[in-house]
Amino acid sequence: MKFFVDTADTAAIAELNDLGMVDGVTTNPSIIMKSGRDIREVTKEICDMIDGPVSAETVALDAEGMIAEGRELAKIADNITIKVPLTWDGLKACRVLSGEGRMVNVTLCFSANQALLAAKAGATFISPFIGRLDDINLDGMDLIADIRQIYDNYGFETQILAASIRSVNHMTEAAKIGADVATAPPDVIRKMAQHVLTDKGLEGFLKDWAKTGQKIL
Ligand code: E4P
Repeated sequence: MKFFVDTADTAAIAELNDLGMVDGVTTNPSIIMKSGRDIREVTKEICDMIDGPVSAETVALDAEGMIAEGRELAKIADNITIKVPLTWDGLKACRVLSGEGRMVNVTLCFSANQALLAAKAGATFISPFIGRLDDINLDGMDLIADIRQIYDNYGFETQILAASIRSVNHMTEAAKIGADVATAPPDVIRKMAQHVLTDKGLEGFLKDWAKTGQKIL
């Protein structure tokens, strides 16, 4: 499973990237707002840092507007993925932009039918939002499983980009189901390294080591 980082925090991206944990980055208008930075400036910085797709989202509601904004965002760098919402106009924009050979991430997906439409419109990535479904007492993972089954049934090449990930369990479950990509906030990726038995085991080893009076260096 590829790891995308769901942030515009360039320091956090750089740290994870140095560890080889970053296959791409996703942003959205809320993430850009939280960064407090200009969309072109921060997106360019991320694109230069990362050897992989960097999603930048359009904000127009009509297809023509999304296409124009998508072409404009694509000028930032070669690794830009244009993110459009899963609306009827978003699907039209996806069709045109993907027909121009551009990477398109269709976002705000909450049903298997929406994902089926995005694949037929030529999306590079489909972004089902797990956490936001969980928030309304639905199971976001069921959606990932349904999309996996449908795409495999028909050999669609659109990659399932599990999004709105809030916990390390979401990462495990997305990987078990076979999501192609998971995009997660930096903290969730860091927490994947943690285990209480690792901490306890290390503590025990260090106590015993101290009793030996030895040094390695
Ligand atoms: C994905 O591309 C979105 O930017 C993101 O995962 C949304 O996550 P949220 O529901 O936590 O805002």
